[in-house]
Amino acid sequence: MEFSPFDPKHWDDPYPIYAELRAQETLHVCDKTQAFCVTRFDEAAEVFKQPELFSSRSGFNVLLLDTWKKVGPRDVFEMLRFLVRARINPLELRGAPESIISSDPPNHERLRQIVNRGFKPRRIAAWEGRVRELSEGYVAGLESAECFDVVEKLAHPLPMTIIAEMLGVDASRIADFRRWSTGVIDSISGSSRTGSPAGALSNGGELLQYLRSVVAARRTQPTDDLISVLVDPSRGEPLDTQAVLLFATVLLVAGNETTTNSVGSATDLLLRNRDVLDEVTKDPSLIPNLVEETIRMESPFRFMPRQTTRDTTIRGTRIPEGSTVLVMIGSANRDERRFEDAERFDLHRDTSGHLGFGFGIHFCLGASLARLEARVALETLVPLLHDRELCPGGAERADSYLTRGFAKLDVTRVAATAAA
Ligand code: HEM
Repeated sequence: MEFSPFDPKHWDDPYPIYAELRAQETLHVCDKTQAFCVTRFDEAAEVFKQPELFSSRSGFNVLLLDTWKKVGPRDVFEMLRFLVRARINPLELRGAPESIISSDPPNHERLRQIVNRGFKPRRIAAWEGRVRELSEGYVAGLESAECFDVVEKLAHPLPMTIIAEMLGVDASRIADFRRWSTGVIDSISGSSRTGSPAGALSNGGELLQYLRSVVAARRTQPTDDLISVLVDPSRGEPLDTQAVLLFATVLLVAGNETTTNSVGSATDLLLRNRDVLDEVTKDPSLIPNLVEETIRMESPFRFMPRQTTRDTTIRGTRIPEGSTVLVMIGSANRDERRFEDAERFDLHRDTSGHLGFGFGIHFCLGASLARLEARVALETLVPLLHDRELCPGGAERADSYLTRGFAKLDVTRVAATAAA
């Protein structure tokens, strides 16, 4: 069977081919990358559970194959400029700090302990008021709009602004921060498939240069922001500057687009399932279920990569040491062996244990923040949807092999369409 998660052919509706891959007697191996696709729920959980056998360290290299394959002279120039701006000495890169998401034990445990400080449940819960204030501000006036783009108006700016504020980005630089972050996310998540790495390097360089100045300021004058918490020696082992910069980049990539996608996908699912929309409109206490069921049905990360540290076998397929394994989260979460009637959007199902936030030691650090943002965003948006429908031709999928969601999702008034 011909399938590669890097091939746009299956991006819009990957679910039929996922079902075929789950039904096969052996694992599917992609032609170009030779990556082994783990598509059933139990197999995926087993991979996540064994970081010593399925390493996160080199797993992410497979993502670079696609993004960086068309490197030209401008990209090389931007790479040099990036290294200067970010003050990275390429000769020292071997000893550079690992990011939390691409590290293995025991270093992962050490990093996780440090960054956990910034994501304690109480710290996150304290953001609810601000998340609501921003959400209400973003949707203000939209009731009277004939048509609006849910992604542009709400799903995209909300997580981006919150993470900028959490990191302590100055209010006057929020617009720059958004531009830089979007550039970085587009590159790393595969969205720059048709562009070149130069834009991402230029944005990434400016972002890191700016964040470096924030780190330096917080070391001398700490505030209550996340960067202050991470560099504060009185709270335990601090992160060094390179590690903070790397962590901030992971937060942008792992946290922003995914949260945006969950709000966009929930809106899309609701407008395609009017009975469910009616139900949550009448009973908003179902919104947390809506968030979980959306993340199960339309997992914002399509897959997570790993690399084997020794020979192993899954579903009768021998996987040699050093192989890339792709944990196909989007498929595992629709595995009928785990979820009854798995392809059905059902607010009342027990979604516990779904793999949308991963599983095991790398379980999403930002899950409670993501749940908070998605819940509050939907609490503000749902009351506006009862007389809305998807605008024909108004939906644009995010151009990404790694993440699944919408770059644009126009909703319009039902009456306006009927009259047209
Ligand atoms: C709906 C939104 C989100 C989804 C679906 C999601 C999904 C995931 C998944 C699947 C992983 C596991 C990666 C692996 O096993 O290799 C992960 C890890 C992570 N996520 Fe999220 N994420 C979301 C939002 C966030 C947010 C808002 C943040 C923080 C601002 C965040 C920060 C992280 C970090 C730091 C890790 C790495 C944890 C570790 O390696 O120990 N995520 N996320």
